[in-house]
Amino acid sequence: MYVCICHAITESEIREAVERGARSLCEVQSSLPVAGCCGRCEAAARDVVDRQLLGASPRGAA
Ligand code: FES
Repeated sequence: MYVCICHAITESEIREAVERGARSLCEVQSSLPVAGCCGRCEAAARDVVDRQLLGASPRGAA
C-alpha cells in the first residue's frame, strides 16, 4: 500500500528501511524521500516506522 503518494513510497519500503537500521522517520528519510513534499503522509509514515520498531525490537532490549 502506498503511504507517500508524492514519491510513490510504499509501507513495505518504509519497513525495509527500518530493517536496514533506521530508527526514526528522520533516519528513514536519509534513504527514502518520504514526507519530503506535501507532508500529508508524515503521520502515517511515522506510524509505520513506530510499529516496525516495536515489532523488530528484540525481547528485553527496550
Ligand atoms: S504524500 Fe508524502 S510528501 Fe506528499
